[in-house]
Amino acid sequence: MTSPASILGIETSCDETAAAVVDRGREVLAHASATQDDLHAPHGGVVPELASRRHAEVIDQVVEQVLDRAGLEARDLAAIAVTQGPGLIGALAVGVAYAKALAYGTGVPLIGVHHLDGHIAATGLGAAGPSGPFVALLASGGHTGLYAAEAAGGYRILGQTRDDAAGEALDKAAKLLGLGYPGGPALEAAARGGDPAWLALPRAMPGSLEFSFSGLKTALVHAVRKTGQEDVEAHRADIAASVQQAVMEVLVEKLVLAVNRTGVREVVVAGGVAANGLLRALLCDRLGRRGITVHIPQPAFCTDNGAMVAAAGYRLYLAGRFASLDLAPQADLPLVPVPLT
Ligand code: KG4
Ligand code: ZN
Repeated sequence: MTSPASILGIETSCDETAAAVVDRGREVLAHASATQDDLHAPHGGVVPELASRRHAEVIDQVVEQVLDRAGLEARDLAAIAVTQGPGLIGALAVGVAYAKALAYGTGVPLIGVHHLDGHIAATGLGAAGPSGPFVALLASGGHTGLYAAEAAGGYRILGQTRDDAAGEALDKAAKLLGLGYPGGPALEAAARGGDPAWLALPRAMPGSLEFSFSGLKTALVHAVRKTGQEDVEAHRADIAASVQQAVMEVLVEKLVLAVNRTGVREVVVAGGVAANGLLRALLCDRLGRRGITVHIPQPAFCTDNGAMVAAAGYRLYLAGRFASLDLAPQADLPLVPVPLT
């Protein structure tokens, strides 16, 4: 079965080996992901070398699986899109090398995707996505920033984190509280029923579009030390709720500030942290009520996945922006203007 607009997306920038086949950037025909949580959990964070090795072991079966489920042969694809960066260089290299080999072997065009563009494009999976100029809040384990996207094309950086990413702050807090890895979902679960005002934590850089989360971790370390181990155990839900509240409030405050400064009527909130229920509720309260349209990917497509890469790849496909077989992974790939259709 030939499908002229089915794109294979491959994502290996960090600790998920993920692939998906997406039709016209919108309809997910199949997606699969091999998580590496078991591998990294004992270390409390991602170990780059272990991540690369696992990607190399499983990528073939993950890609085969999605092609099978989509009922397609690789040669039927319109394009093969792969995350070029940013991310862990060894991990990226596995996905890029695999995509290049598949493109070479089948003659299907290759497309290099920016990981953050992928997260933003995930809002168009099974939904309409933004139709006009918007501000994107990206909050993941490796990145946190605000980006203005013009309808005519291109992203402008409004502000980024000076130190830790929001997800990284949650992961570190979860580790400190003995909640396991990955920290974001564990912290969200632990916070249920907790008092978010139990612990006063700093909200850094108010009034600025830049972020800083390193002070939060330091404040938490001091607070936990002062509280004593027994009380920390008794108040784990309260502490988790306080951390979650501090991080999500900062994200929403700054997004509201960016909306006020730019005058946009639509926002995109993406990246792993966008799966958070409190963040979604706060967005609805602070922006939805003002008539601002909030686009958030379905929870399954907030964290790293192949469908977001295929969705971003589709826009590049329409713009004829194909990569050559010289495509090289780039750990610090900058977010360059991308045409938005
Ligand atoms: O986008 P992502 O999968 O990978 C990166 O590109 O970094 O984001 C992973 C981050 C982790 O820090 C994880 O703890 C956080 O997203 N995260 C969450 C939730 N699910 C994942 N944070 C808060 N609440 C969640 N439900
Ligand atoms: Zn990501």
